Amino acid sequence: MKTLHIFGVTGSIGQSAADIVLAHPDRFSVHTVTAHKNVMKLAEAAKQLKAQYAVIADEALYDDLKAALSGSGIACASGAAAVTEAARVPADISLMAIVGIAGLKPLWAALEHSKAVAIANKEPLVAAGPMVMARAAEFGTAILPVDSEHNAIFQVFDQNNKAAVERIILTASGGPFREWSLDQMADATPEQALRHPTWSMGAKISIDSATMMNKALEIIEAHYLFDMPPSMIEVMVHPQSLVHGMVEYADGSFLCQMGASDMRTPIISALSWPERIATPGRKLDLETLTILSFERPDFERFPALRLAYDCLNKGLAACIALNAGNEVMVDEFLSGRCGFLDIAGKTSRIIDGSNYDTPQTLDDVIAIDQDVRARIKCAIVETDSPKVSKNS
Ligand SMILES: NC(=O)c1ccc[n+]([C@@H]2O[C@H](COP(=O)([O-])OP(=O)(O)OC[C@H]3O[C@@H](n4cnc5c(N)ncnc54)[C@H](OP(=O)(O)O)[C@@H]3O)[C@@H](O)[C@H]2O)c1
Repeated sequence: MKTLHIFGVTGSIGQSAADIVLAHPDRFSVHTVTAHKNVMKLAEAAKQLKAQYAVIADEALYDDLKAALSGSGIACASGAAAVTEAARVPADISLMAIVGIAGLKPLWAALEHSKAVAIANKEPLVAAGPMVMARAAEFGTAILPVDSEHNAIFQVFDQNNKAAVERIILTASGGPFREWSLDQMADATPEQALRHPTWSMGAKISIDSATMMNKALEIIEAHYLFDMPPSMIEVMVHPQSLVHGMVEYADGSFLCQMGASDMRTPIISALSWPERIATPGRKLDLETLTILSFERPDFERFPALRLAYDCLNKGLAACIALNAGNEVMVDEFLSGRCGFLDIAGKTSRIIDGSNYDTPQTLDDVIAIDQDVRARIKCAIVETDSPKVSKNS
């Protein structure tokens, strides 16, 4: 029986994790569950999972949560600090499934107090990868990647033969605009961008998939998780989303992990590691497979990919700017305040206009993140741009 905290239980990853816990009540004992604003879903998950503690990040929702949990015996709290505080309760494993940089402080706390952290929330790794990896090493905490590509690579990466690894390959579905021209993308609506062809996910990562910024963040994530230089990390577009990641070795072997496009496989693989237990999710039916195709991504139509390599070459401050700029621009796009191509376009400009010293501490990371957000919001107000053209 493993004790488990689920940060972000109301989200797409959190709900898949809940499915897994419900399918294996003898394996996992949930201590804490958290959410941002979705009180009713949080209370329902807490009761279903028999959690001991529920935390809502929005301070103002404490009374609502308390009322929703009344009579259940489940303790509760509210506020961002309470979410982080919850990560200080010892556990066998913490699943980090908050979206965005909001997950950084809880991750930081969990790295000290949990035996293992299963990380779906890639943004903190992008913004603070070196610090996160160092902290895991300091406390002997296992980092278990949940992102399907990184989980795949984790499964097939031969740590005993690292010198024989020639490259790691992250596969990408290509998103809903894989075959769209730049002109078409210039007019893309949030509804179109949210319609992912193969995965069902939260809004932010769905938009990131449409811009391929998700793959950009994953390149940086892979760099830190597997300690590989950017030149040895490649992306291949694989529209079927069945091969999730590959490692190529010097002897010509390609080791890959395959599975249905169902996040319950990487989540259960991380939560049950080093064992393997039955997924309640979908499985791959080999007989229905007709084709597995791989093609190089188009860096012209998806400039976010180039940004990842540029930022890794520039250093950590640029990676923080990439992540923060993108988070702000995704919000802007979803609210209808900017065009689709603005997301990478304006993020790129904010990175170019940044000149920060290399961050050394978590506080440095947070300071740069905040500054970039303020600057990009300021730039948006100043230009007050109408919906964007492809040249923006
Ligand atoms: N979905 C996938 O298939 C997938 C695959 C690979 C990696 N990931 C990564 O996993 C993370 C979660 O993705 P998702 O798709 O599950 O997102 P999601 O469906 O939007 O869920 C996000 C979760 O985070 C909570 N949250 C949002 N803002 C918060 C804040 N400021 N403070 C505390 N909690 C907050 C949400 O609570 P409320 O519900 O109350 O808003 C919700 O529980 C992302 O980093 C994503 O890139 C996701």
